[in-house]
Amino acid sequence: ERTRVAIVGAGPAGLLLSHLLDRVGVDSIVIDARTREQIETTIRAGILEQGTVEVLHDTGASDRVLTVGGRHDGIELRFDGEGHRIDFAASVGRAVWLYPQHEVLKDLVAARLSAGQDLRFGVTAEAVEDVDSDRPRVLATGPEGERIEIEADVVVGADGSRGVTRAAVTGAHGGFFREYPFAWFGVLCEAAPSAHELIYSNSPEGFALISQRSATVQRMYFQCDPEADPDAYSERELWDILQARVPGTTLNEGPIFQRDVLRFRSFVAHRLRRGRTVLVGDAAHTVPPTGAKGMNLAVADVLLLADALEALLRRGDESGFDAYAERALGRIWKAQHFSWWMTNMLHVAPGASDFDRRRQVGELRSVVESEHGRAFLAEAYTGWPLAR
Ligand code: DHB
Repeated sequence: ERTRVAIVGAGPAGLLLSHLLDRVGVDSIVIDARTREQIETTIRAGILEQGTVEVLHDTGASDRVLTVGGRHDGIELRFDGEGHRIDFAASVGRAVWLYPQHEVLKDLVAARLSAGQDLRFGVTAEAVEDVDSDRPRVLATGPEGERIEIEADVVVGADGSRGVTRAAVTGAHGGFFREYPFAWFGVLCEAAPSAHELIYSNSPEGFALISQRSATVQRMYFQCDPEADPDAYSERELWDILQARVPGTTLNEGPIFQRDVLRFRSFVAHRLRRGRTVLVGDAAHTVPPTGAKGMNLAVADVLLLADALEALLRRGDESGFDAYAERALGRIWKAQHFSWWMTNMLHVAPGASDFDRRRQVGELRSVVESEHGRAFLAEAYTGWPLAR
Protein backbone atom coordinates (compact mmCIF):
# COMPACT_ATOMS: atom_id res chain seq x y z
CA GLU A 1 0.00 0.00 0.00
CA ARG A 2 1.05 3.55 -0.58
CA THR A 3 0.17 6.87 0.92
CA ARG A 4 1.79 10.26 1.17
CA VAL A 5 2.20 10.26 4.94
CA ALA A 6 2.16 7.11 7.09
CA ILE A 7 1.38 8.09 10.67
CA VAL A 8 2.20 5.60 13.42
CA GLY A 9 0.01 6.31 16.46
CA ALA A 10 -3.55 7.60 16.87
CA GLY A 11 -2.95 9.77 19.91
CA PRO A 12 -3.44 13.53 19.92
CA ALA A 13 -0.31 14.08 17.78
CA GLY A 14 -1.05 11.52 15.05
CA LEU A 15 -4.75 12.32 14.75
CA LEU A 16 -4.29 16.08 14.73
CA LEU A 17 -1.58 15.77 12.08
CA SER A 18 -3.83 13.71 9.79
CA HIS A 19 -6.59 16.29 10.33
CA LEU A 20 -4.35 19.25 9.43
CA LEU A 21 -2.87 17.44 6.42
CA ASP A 22 -6.32 16.58 5.11
CA ARG A 23 -7.26 20.24 5.21
CA VAL A 24 -4.44 21.03 2.78
CA GLY A 25 -5.10 18.02 0.54
CA VAL A 26 -2.37 15.65 1.75
CA ASP A 27 -3.46 12.02 2.23
CA SER A 28 -2.35 9.92 5.15
CA ILE A 29 -2.91 6.54 6.76
CA VAL A 30 -3.00 6.40 10.57
CA ILE A 31 -2.41 3.12 12.42
CA ASP A 32 -2.53 2.33 16.13
CA ALA A 33 -2.04 -0.89 18.06
CA ARG A 34 -4.89 -0.09 20.46
CA THR A 35 -8.61 -0.43 19.90
CA ARG A 36 -10.78 2.65 19.41
CA GLU A 37 -12.34 2.01 22.80
CA GLN A 38 -8.98 1.88 24.57
CA ILE A 39 -7.91 5.14 22.94
CA GLU A 40 -11.16 6.87 23.87
CA THR A 41 -11.35 5.73 27.48
CA THR A 42 -7.79 5.81 28.82
CA ILE A 43 -7.49 8.65 31.32
CA ARG A 44 -4.47 10.83 30.61
CA ALA A 45 -3.81 14.57 30.74
CA GLY A 46 -6.41 17.24 31.45
CA ILE A 47 -5.12 20.74 30.77
CA LEU A 48 -5.00 22.44 27.36
CA GLU A 49 -3.05 25.60 26.65
CA GLN A 50 -5.06 28.41 25.08
CA GLY A 51 -3.23 27.91 21.77
CA THR A 52 -4.09 24.19 21.78
CA VAL A 53 -7.76 25.05 22.28
CA GLU A 54 -7.65 27.58 19.44
CA VAL A 55 -6.11 25.04 17.06
CA LEU A 56 -8.66 22.34 17.94
CA HIS A 57 -11.56 24.72 17.66
CA ASP A 58 -10.53 26.88 14.71
CA THR A 59 -9.58 23.95 12.46
CA GLY A 60 -12.91 22.24 13.07
CA ALA A 61 -11.49 19.36 15.11
CA SER A 62 -13.57 20.05 18.22
CA ASP A 63 -16.50 22.28 19.17
CA ARG A 64 -16.94 20.50 22.47
CA VAL A 65 -13.65 21.84 23.80
CA LEU A 66 -15.44 25.15 24.34
CA THR A 67 -18.86 23.80 25.36
CA VAL A 68 -17.81 20.86 27.57
CA GLY A 69 -14.34 22.10 28.51
CA GLY A 70 -14.00 24.74 31.20
CA ARG A 71 -11.77 27.80 31.16
CA HIS A 72 -9.37 28.21 34.07
CA ASP A 73 -8.01 31.69 34.64
CA GLY A 74 -5.50 30.69 37.27
CA ILE A 75 -4.06 28.04 39.57
CA GLU A 76 -3.20 28.01 43.23
CA LEU A 77 0.27 27.31 44.58
CA ARG A 78 0.06 26.22 48.20
CA PHE A 79 3.04 26.05 50.55
CA ASP A 80 3.86 26.83 54.16
CA GLY A 81 0.15 26.38 54.94
CA GLU A 82 -1.01 29.19 52.66
CA GLY A 83 -2.51 29.41 49.18
CA HIS A 84 -1.27 31.87 46.56
CA ARG A 85 -3.22 32.38 43.37
CA ILE A 86 -1.43 32.77 40.06
CA ASP A 87 -3.89 34.87 38.07
CA PHE A 88 -3.24 34.05 34.41
CA ALA A 89 -5.72 36.60 33.13
CA ALA A 90 -4.14 39.44 35.12
CA SER A 91 -0.56 38.33 34.44
CA VAL A 92 -0.59 37.49 30.75
CA GLY A 93 -4.19 37.86 29.55
CA ARG A 94 -4.41 34.18 28.68
CA ALA A 95 -6.04 31.06 30.10
CA VAL A 96 -6.02 27.25 29.98
CA TRP A 97 -8.93 24.84 29.51
CA LEU A 98 -9.73 21.78 31.53
CA TYR A 99 -10.76 19.25 28.88
CA PRO A 100 -9.58 15.66 29.30
CA GLN A 101 -7.28 14.16 26.68
CA HIS A 102 -9.66 11.26 26.02
CA GLU A 103 -12.35 13.80 25.10
CA VAL A 104 -9.92 15.43 22.67
CA LEU A 105 -9.34 11.96 21.23
CA LYS A 106 -13.06 11.23 20.87
CA ASP A 107 -13.47 14.47 18.93
CA LEU A 108 -10.46 13.82 16.71
CA VAL A 109 -11.43 10.20 15.98
CA ALA A 110 -14.99 11.25 15.10
CA ALA A 111 -13.75 14.07 12.87
CA ARG A 112 -11.27 11.82 11.07
CA LEU A 113 -13.75 9.01 10.50
CA SER A 114 -16.46 11.32 9.22
CA ALA A 115 -13.94 12.82 6.79
CA GLY A 116 -13.22 9.32 5.44
CA GLN A 117 -9.73 9.10 6.94
CA ASP A 118 -7.98 5.75 6.61
CA LEU A 119 -7.62 5.17 10.36
CA ARG A 120 -6.87 1.62 11.51
CA PHE A 121 -7.11 0.37 15.05
CA GLY A 122 -5.53 -2.86 16.26
CA VAL A 123 -2.63 -2.48 13.81
CA THR A 124 0.75 -2.84 15.50
CA ALA A 125 3.78 -1.23 13.85
CA GLU A 126 6.76 -3.60 13.97
CA ALA A 127 9.45 -1.61 12.18
CA VAL A 128 10.27 1.23 9.81
CA GLU A 129 12.25 -0.08 6.82
CA ASP A 130 14.35 1.75 4.24
CA VAL A 131 14.66 4.66 6.64
CA ASP A 132 17.50 6.13 4.61
CA SER A 133 15.65 6.02 1.28
CA ASP A 134 13.05 8.52 0.09
CA ARG A 135 10.34 5.81 0.24
CA PRO A 136 10.38 4.61 3.85
CA ARG A 137 7.98 1.77 4.72
CA VAL A 138 6.09 0.86 7.86
CA LEU A 139 5.80 -2.86 8.54
CA ALA A 140 2.89 -3.77 10.76
CA THR A 141 0.63 -6.59 11.90
CA GLY A 142 -3.15 -6.30 11.60
CA PRO A 143 -5.84 -7.47 14.02
CA GLU A 144 -6.02 -10.94 12.41
CA GLY A 145 -2.24 -11.32 12.43
CA GLU A 146 -1.98 -10.28 8.77
CA ARG A 147 1.15 -8.50 7.56
CA ILE A 148 0.70 -4.91 6.43
CA GLU A 149 3.24 -2.80 4.57
CA ILE A 150 2.72 0.91 4.00
CA GLU A 151 5.07 2.80 1.72
CA ALA A 152 5.06 6.58 2.06
CA ASP A 153 6.80 9.82 1.14
CA VAL A 154 7.14 10.50 4.84
CA VAL A 155 6.72 8.30 7.93
CA VAL A 156 5.69 10.11 11.11
CA GLY A 157 6.37 8.51 14.49
CA ALA A 158 3.56 9.57 16.83
CA ASP A 159 3.58 6.32 18.80
CA GLY A 160 4.68 7.63 22.17
CA SER A 161 7.62 6.91 24.38
CA ARG A 162 7.39 3.13 24.03
CA GLY A 163 6.77 2.98 20.28
CA VAL A 164 9.03 1.54 17.58
CA THR A 165 9.64 4.73 15.61
CA ARG A 166 11.85 6.43 18.20
CA ALA A 167 14.60 3.84 17.85
CA ALA A 168 14.25 3.83 14.06
CA VAL A 169 15.17 7.53 14.09
CA THR A 170 17.66 7.76 16.95
CA GLY A 171 19.41 4.40 16.52
CA ALA A 172 21.52 3.42 19.49
CA HIS A 173 22.07 7.09 20.40
CA GLY A 174 18.72 7.41 22.17
CA GLY A 175 18.64 10.85 23.66
CA PHE A 176 19.00 13.15 26.62
CA PHE A 177 17.48 11.53 29.66
CA ARG A 178 16.75 12.19 33.29
CA GLU A 179 14.86 10.24 35.96
CA TYR A 180 13.34 11.48 39.20
CA PRO A 181 13.27 9.79 42.60
CA PHE A 182 9.47 10.10 42.89
CA ALA A 183 6.29 9.32 41.01
CA TRP A 184 2.64 10.37 41.15
CA PHE A 185 -0.07 8.25 42.67
CA GLY A 186 -3.15 9.23 40.65
CA VAL A 187 -6.74 8.64 41.68
CA LEU A 188 -10.09 9.22 40.01
CA CYS A 189 -13.04 9.60 42.32
CA GLU A 190 -16.73 10.33 42.23
CA ALA A 191 -17.14 13.60 44.06
CA ALA A 192 -17.82 17.26 43.50
CA PRO A 193 -14.79 19.53 42.95
CA SER A 194 -13.02 20.54 46.16
CA ALA A 195 -11.84 23.88 44.78
CA HIS A 196 -12.66 26.16 41.84
CA GLU A 197 -9.18 25.90 40.39
CA LEU A 198 -6.31 23.40 40.45
CA ILE A 199 -4.20 23.36 43.61
CA TYR A 200 -0.50 22.55 43.36
CA SER A 201 0.56 21.92 46.94
CA ASN A 202 4.05 21.66 48.37
CA SER A 203 3.68 20.24 51.88
CA PRO A 204 6.18 18.75 54.33
CA GLU A 205 4.64 15.34 53.56
CA GLY A 206 5.26 15.78 49.83
CA PHE A 207 3.50 17.19 46.79
CA ALA A 208 -0.20 16.89 45.91
CA LEU A 209 -2.21 18.16 42.95
CA ILE A 210 -5.95 18.62 43.25
CA SER A 211 -7.29 18.55 39.70
CA GLN A 212 -10.70 17.89 38.20
CA ARG A 213 -12.39 16.06 35.37
CA SER A 214 -16.04 17.15 35.56
CA ALA A 215 -18.73 18.28 37.99
CA THR A 216 -18.93 14.71 39.34
CA VAL A 217 -15.48 13.19 38.73
CA GLN A 218 -12.23 14.48 40.22
CA ARG A 219 -8.58 13.72 39.49
CA MET A 220 -6.00 13.99 42.25
CA TYR A 221 -2.37 13.03 42.56
CA PHE A 222 0.13 12.74 45.37
CA GLN A 223 3.87 12.27 45.28
CA CYS A 224 4.85 8.67 46.02
CA ASP A 225 7.72 6.22 45.72
CA PRO A 226 8.20 5.07 42.10
CA GLU A 227 7.94 1.46 43.34
CA ALA A 228 4.63 2.04 45.18
CA ASP A 229 1.97 -0.63 44.63
CA PRO A 230 -1.33 1.09 43.73
CA ASP A 231 -3.34 -1.69 45.36
CA ALA A 232 -1.51 -1.53 48.67
CA TYR A 233 -3.62 1.37 49.98
CA SER A 234 -7.18 1.40 51.29
CA GLU A 235 -9.43 4.24 50.15
CA ARG A 236 -9.31 5.62 53.68
CA GLU A 237 -5.50 5.70 53.55
CA LEU A 238 -5.55 7.46 50.19
CA TRP A 239 -7.90 10.16 51.45
CA ASP A 240 -5.83 10.63 54.60
CA ILE A 241 -2.65 11.08 52.57
CA LEU A 242 -4.28 13.53 50.17
CA GLN A 243 -5.99 15.43 52.95
CA ALA A 244 -2.74 15.85 54.92
CA ARG A 245 -1.05 17.37 51.89
CA VAL A 246 -3.51 20.20 51.29
CA PRO A 247 -3.78 21.75 54.75
CA GLY A 248 -6.45 24.44 54.71
CA THR A 249 -8.79 22.62 52.31
CA THR A 250 -11.29 19.91 53.16
CA LEU A 251 -11.45 17.58 50.19
CA ASN A 252 -14.82 16.26 49.09
CA GLU A 253 -14.42 12.50 49.38
CA GLY A 254 -16.13 9.88 47.24
CA PRO A 255 -15.58 6.40 45.84
CA ILE A 256 -12.16 6.00 44.19
CA PHE A 257 -12.71 4.04 40.98
CA GLN A 258 -9.26 4.19 39.41
CA ARG A 259 -5.73 4.40 40.72
CA ASP A 260 -2.37 4.34 38.99
CA VAL A 261 1.30 5.17 39.53
CA LEU A 262 2.90 7.48 36.95
CA ARG A 263 6.66 7.47 36.66
CA PHE A 264 8.54 10.69 36.01
CA ARG A 265 10.98 11.04 33.16
CA SER A 266 12.51 13.78 31.08
CA PHE A 267 13.69 12.76 27.62
CA VAL A 268 14.56 14.45 24.35
CA ALA A 269 15.58 12.34 21.37
CA HIS A 270 19.06 12.97 19.99
CA ARG A 271 17.54 13.56 16.58
CA LEU A 272 13.92 14.11 15.56
CA ARG A 273 14.40 13.15 11.94
CA ARG A 274 16.27 10.62 9.93
CA GLY A 275 15.77 10.93 6.17
CA ARG A 276 12.04 10.98 5.66
CA THR A 277 11.09 9.56 9.05
CA VAL A 278 10.26 12.13 11.68
CA LEU A 279 9.19 12.09 15.34
CA VAL A 280 6.47 14.14 17.06
CA GLY A 281 5.01 14.24 20.58
CA ASP A 282 6.05 11.69 23.19
CA ALA A 283 7.96 9.67 20.59
CA ALA A 284 10.31 12.66 20.35
CA HIS A 285 10.29 13.76 23.99
CA THR A 286 8.81 13.04 27.39
CA VAL A 287 8.23 15.50 30.22
CA PRO A 288 7.29 14.88 33.85
CA PRO A 289 3.61 15.76 34.29
CA THR A 290 3.92 18.76 36.64
CA GLY A 291 2.79 21.75 34.59
CA ALA A 292 0.77 19.75 32.06
CA LYS A 293 3.02 20.25 29.04
CA GLY A 294 2.99 16.78 27.43
CA MET A 295 -0.04 16.92 25.14
CA ASN A 296 0.38 20.62 24.46
CA LEU A 297 3.94 20.11 23.31
CA ALA A 298 2.77 17.37 20.95
CA VAL A 299 0.30 19.81 19.41
CA ALA A 300 3.05 22.42 18.93
CA ASP A 301 5.27 19.85 17.14
CA VAL A 302 2.40 18.87 14.89
CA LEU A 303 1.64 22.45 13.84
CA LEU A 304 5.22 22.93 12.70
CA LEU A 305 5.33 19.58 10.96
CA ALA A 306 2.00 20.03 9.18
CA ASP A 307 3.25 23.26 7.59
CA ALA A 308 6.56 21.63 6.69
CA LEU A 309 4.82 18.64 5.08
CA GLU A 310 2.41 20.82 3.13
CA ALA A 311 5.39 22.72 1.66
CA LEU A 312 7.29 19.51 0.94
CA LEU A 313 4.49 17.41 -0.50
CA ARG A 314 2.42 20.08 -2.25
CA ARG A 315 5.15 22.41 -3.48
CA GLY A 316 8.35 20.35 -3.37
CA ASP A 317 9.83 22.87 -0.92
CA GLU A 318 12.11 21.02 1.50
CA SER A 319 13.22 23.97 3.59
CA GLY A 320 10.54 23.65 6.29
CA PHE A 321 11.06 19.91 6.57
CA ASP A 322 14.80 20.44 6.93
CA ALA A 323 14.21 23.08 9.60
CA TYR A 324 11.53 21.13 11.54
CA ALA A 325 13.80 19.60 14.18
CA GLU A 326 15.61 22.81 15.00
CA ARG A 327 12.42 24.84 15.16
CA ALA A 328 10.60 22.27 17.31
CA LEU A 329 13.54 21.86 19.68
CA GLY A 330 13.39 25.50 20.74
CA ARG A 331 9.99 24.99 22.36
CA ILE A 332 10.76 21.43 23.44
CA TRP A 333 13.67 22.55 25.62
CA LYS A 334 11.67 25.42 27.08
CA ALA A 335 8.95 22.95 28.03
CA GLN A 336 11.58 20.56 29.37
CA HIS A 337 12.88 23.31 31.59
CA PHE A 338 9.42 24.39 32.77
CA SER A 339 8.35 20.83 33.62
CA TRP A 340 11.63 20.13 35.43
CA TRP A 341 11.38 23.45 37.29
CA MET A 342 7.78 22.96 38.43
CA THR A 343 8.62 19.40 39.45
CA ASN A 344 11.66 20.32 41.52
CA MET A 345 10.07 23.40 43.06
CA LEU A 346 7.02 21.51 44.29
CA HIS A 347 8.16 17.99 45.24
CA VAL A 348 10.08 16.93 48.31
CA ALA A 349 13.10 14.91 47.19
CA PRO A 350 13.84 11.85 49.35
CA GLY A 351 16.67 12.85 51.68
CA ALA A 352 16.02 16.59 51.28
CA SER A 353 17.82 18.55 54.02
CA ASP A 354 16.37 21.41 56.06
CA PHE A 355 18.36 23.72 53.84
CA ASP A 356 16.74 22.23 50.73
CA ARG A 357 13.25 22.64 52.22
CA ARG A 358 13.79 26.26 53.20
CA ARG A 359 15.43 27.09 49.88
CA GLN A 360 12.38 25.62 48.13
CA VAL A 361 10.01 27.85 50.10
CA GLY A 362 12.27 30.78 49.20
CA GLU A 363 11.95 29.86 45.56
CA LEU A 364 8.17 29.61 45.78
CA ARG A 365 8.04 32.99 47.53
CA SER A 366 10.16 34.58 44.85
CA VAL A 367 7.56 33.43 42.33
CA VAL A 368 4.30 34.28 44.10
CA GLU A 369 5.44 37.58 45.66
CA SER A 370 6.70 39.04 42.39
CA GLU A 371 4.58 40.19 39.50
CA HIS A 372 7.42 39.06 37.21
CA GLY A 373 7.67 35.67 38.90
CA ARG A 374 3.93 35.12 38.53
CA ALA A 375 4.07 36.26 34.91
CA PHE A 376 6.93 33.85 34.14
CA LEU A 377 4.90 30.93 35.45
CA ALA A 378 1.66 32.12 33.83
CA GLU A 379 3.27 32.63 30.42
CA ALA A 380 4.76 29.15 30.37
CA TYR A 381 1.67 27.44 31.82
CA THR A 382 -0.78 29.03 29.40
CA GLY A 383 1.66 28.39 26.55
CA TRP A 384 4.19 30.37 24.55
CA PRO A 385 3.01 31.63 21.15
CA LEU A 386 2.55 28.93 18.53
CA ALA A 387 4.04 28.95 15.07
CA ARG A 388 0.81 30.15 13.47
C1 DHB B 1 -3.39 17.38 35.40
C2 DHB B 1 -2.13 16.87 35.19
C3 DHB B 1 -1.05 17.69 35.30
O1 DHB B 1 0.20 17.22 35.10
C4 DHB B 1 -1.18 19.01 35.64
O2 DHB B 1 -0.08 19.78 35.77
C5 DHB B 1 -2.44 19.52 35.84
C6 DHB B 1 -3.54 18.70 35.71
C7 DHB B 1 -4.56 16.48 35.29
O3 DHB B 1 -4.37 15.33 34.90
O4 DHB B 1 -5.65 16.92 35.59
